[in-house]
Amino acid sequence: MSENLNNENKKVIFSGIQPSGDLTLGNYLGALKNWVKLQDDYDCYFCIVDLHAITVRQKPADLRRRSLELLSIYIAAGISPEKNTLFIQSHVPAHAECSWLLTCNTYMGELSRMTQYKDKSQKMGSSIGVGLFNYPSLMAADILLYNTDLVPVGKDQTQHLELTRDIATRFNSTYSDTFKIPEGYIPKEGAKIMDLQEPLKKMSKSSDNPNSIILIMDPPEVIRKKISRAVTDSLGIVNYTDDQPGVKNLLNILSAIKRTSPEELVSYYKGKGYSDLKSDVADAVVAELEPIQKKVQELLKDKSYLESIYKEGAQKASYVANKTLRKMQKKIGMIPR
Ligand code: AMP
Ligand code: TRP
Repeated sequence: MSENLNNENKKVIFSGIQPSGDLTLGNYLGALKNWVKLQDDYDCYFCIVDLHAITVRQKPADLRRRSLELLSIYIAAGISPEKNTLFIQSHVPAHAECSWLLTCNTYMGELSRMTQYKDKSQKMGSSIGVGLFNYPSLMAADILLYNTDLVPVGKDQTQHLELTRDIATRFNSTYSDTFKIPEGYIPKEGAKIMDLQEPLKKMSKSSDNPNSIILIMDPPEVIRKKISRAVTDSLGIVNYTDDQPGVKNLLNILSAIKRTSPEELVSYYKGKGYSDLKSDVADAVVAELEPIQKKVQELLKDKSYLESIYKEGAQKASYVANKTLRKMQKKIGMIPR
């Protein structure tokens, strides 16, 4: 009870990751590591957004494996299942229902303007599912169901968040005040980690070149090999500048792990070469990820523990989500059950 009272005073945070590919160092440094720091100050909902993942075809066995692995990674990275609500999106049917209600209040034009939809659908050619088009109104449902104050996301998601705010504002003005208008939250240390082979591109779990990305679950020797092969340049001087995107990325990775500013790192590497930098980056990444990997392996062996976490999470989330959904249905003019 006291915990509930406490939570009511805290601002609400909602965020999610799709179990659509194996998680990268970018997901870890750009999202998870920062979420860990939020859990004491906010009432946090961290979701495994499997309904979003299926907007692109997933192999059922992969989706199952990745969803449980993602939950294990959340926990192993330090996101406490006691302090936060950890749950799987499809376990809370209110998300799909709310998404429909919001879809009916979203315009074709708005969804057509989403750059993520344009990019993804271009790559897919002719068989583009309607779900992919509708993706942002499902994301709006995720956020709005929990009276969310803040949404920690990367820059690539800001357009979706803006649309969420527009949909919420429109719903409020059509049907009277219903939703809190959420704000984006980009943590200060939210480093953007770039592709190791094409450092002008974001490191992404959907990349087809395995040397481009470091996976959270990559074994240490693989991590070392990938970092030693990372693209740099022929200048040979460690500098933090856009003209040396490969080196800049390595410094960003080291800086995010060590919590040392890139400028301090540059002065440390004065007179040293790229191989020193690379070997330090590899050591730091391995030291950071190895304990997490061990914990993930342990957690994955204990399916009943994981089940207890996602069941409890779904129960807590459903309670809040259903209240918001009922409110929406009533305002729209649906007969209460
Ligand atoms: P996604 O992999 O696109 O589902 O993203 C899940 C979360 O990880 C989002 O909050 C992203 O902003 C974050 N993220 C993904 N890739 C990176 C990256 N390369 N650098 C920093 N953050 C990232
Ligand atoms: N679209 C987000 C991404 O790809 C994932 C996501 C789904 C999300 N629902 C969300 C993020 C709600 C924040 C809040 O990164």
